[in-house]
Formats: sequence, structure tokens, C-alpha cells
Amino acid sequence: MKKLYGIGTGPGAADLLTLRAVNIIKDAKVIFAPNNKGKNMALDTVEEYIGDKRVILIDFPMGSVDTEDYINAANIIYKEIPEGEYGAFLTIGDSMIYSTFIYIMDLLKEKEIEIEVVPGIPSFVAAAAASQVPLTVKGDKFLLIDEFDNSLLDKADSFALLKTLREKESILDELEKNDFDYKYIKRVSLENEEILEDKSKIIQDRDYISLILGRKGEN
Ligand SMILES: C[S@@+](CC[C@H](N)C(=O)[O-])C[C@H]1O[C@@H](n2cnc3c(N)ncnc32)[C@H](O)[C@@H]1O
Repeated sequence: MKKLYGIGTGPGAADLLTLRAVNIIKDAKVIFAPNNKGKNMALDTVEEYIGDKRVILIDFPMGSVDTEDYINAANIIYKEIPEGEYGAFLTIGDSMIYSTFIYIMDLLKEKEIEIEVVPGIPSFVAAAAASQVPLTVKGDKFLLIDEFDNSLLDKADSFALLKTLREKESILDELEKNDFDYKYIKRVSLENEEILEDKSKIIQDRDYISLILGRKGEN
């Protein structure tokens, strides 16, 4: 039987990888990751453990991924893992959070292949640590979103918003109107990590590897 591990590589720093992820990557026959113009952030994180291993970067057209692309990815993965061996599919953060791996995993369940998932430190958990913004205290309701939805704000005490590129200014306006404090955390754990609180600086920034943590104000 073939096997595929879905591996969360954490927010980017190599020392935030789990031991389990490292051990599995070291012995994998083939490594898969989404192709981001010939690069991949999760692959950079695990670079020192790759050696001369076979690495396959799988194409997912930016902004327009459809079912065919996932089927294609699942087929490549199934074909490239030798019988009796295992491969590892890398995702940033954790594989079960807004990740390509989830769709691939579902498609592979229809084939003769075992799947196992290794958790990674999610980006917003690392961002909470870096910025010392508590995600939850007793009794809090926490909201995780990759698209801002104003109507949810009155139900949450705190939130993490991933993928911040769209409509940042109006999002920050809404947060202020609803009495939420916020911090913008960019490239957490990486060399160029930045934590911004200044509204105009946050609006100007255009880095995809960023998120916003918000908490309802105390009064
Ligand atoms: C497709 S989602 C993947 C989420 C990931 N699976 C996780 O567990 O965090 C991509 C988004 O994750 C966030 N992200 C990932 N790594 C990050 C980092 N080092 N610093 C800030 N945000 C990060 C950004 O919001 C980015 O737009």
C-alpha cells in the first residue's frame, strides 16, 4: 500500500517544525508542495531535511483553482508515490486549516492509499504568541475567517482574519466602529516578521503572508 502524509510545517521558522514532521520528511520517498512560481514557503521551512530527495511542485492556477486541478494533483501524487513507500505533502501552518491538502485528501480517499495528517503550528497561533494578543480567555468566542464578514463581529470576542489583501481599509474602519482593537502580523517567525498597529501602515502593506488579530475592547 502507498501512503501520503499531510504535513503542517508551521508558520515558517524551521525551529517551529514538530519533531514528528521532521522525522517523516527525512524518510519520505517524495515530497509534494503547491507550486508558487517555482518556490514554496513550506518547502523553504524544511529545506535542511530535503537533501537530494525528489521534490514535485504541483501547479494550482492562482485565484482560479477548480475541481479539475485538485483531481490532477491527486492523480500526480498517487502516481508518483512508489508502492510500499510514502510521500509527504507540505502545507504552511496546519494542513487542516484553509489548505489545498484538504481537497486532495478527500479525492485520494477514493484510491488505494493510506492518509495520515501531522499537525503544524497554525499561523494565527504563532501570530498570537509573537504579538502577545490572547486568542481567547475564559468564556470568549473566537472566530477564524479568511474573508471578513462584518455581521459576525457582534458574536465574537476575538478573531483571526487570514488573507488580508482585500478591502483592508474598510475592514479596519468596521473594526474601529465595532470597538475592536487589532494588530496586523506579517511573516510571523520569519526574518522579516513585522507587527503593525498603525492603521495607515497596515493599509499600505501588500504582503499575502499576513493576518489580522482582533479583540473586542475592554470598555
Ligand atoms: C491558505 S492560508 C493557509 C493557512 C495555514 N494552513 C495555517 O494553518 O495558518 C494562507 C494564509 O495563512 C496566513 N499565514 C501563513 N503563514 C503566515 C505567517 N508566517 N505570518 C502571517 N500569516 C501567515 C496568511 O494569512 C496567509 O494569507
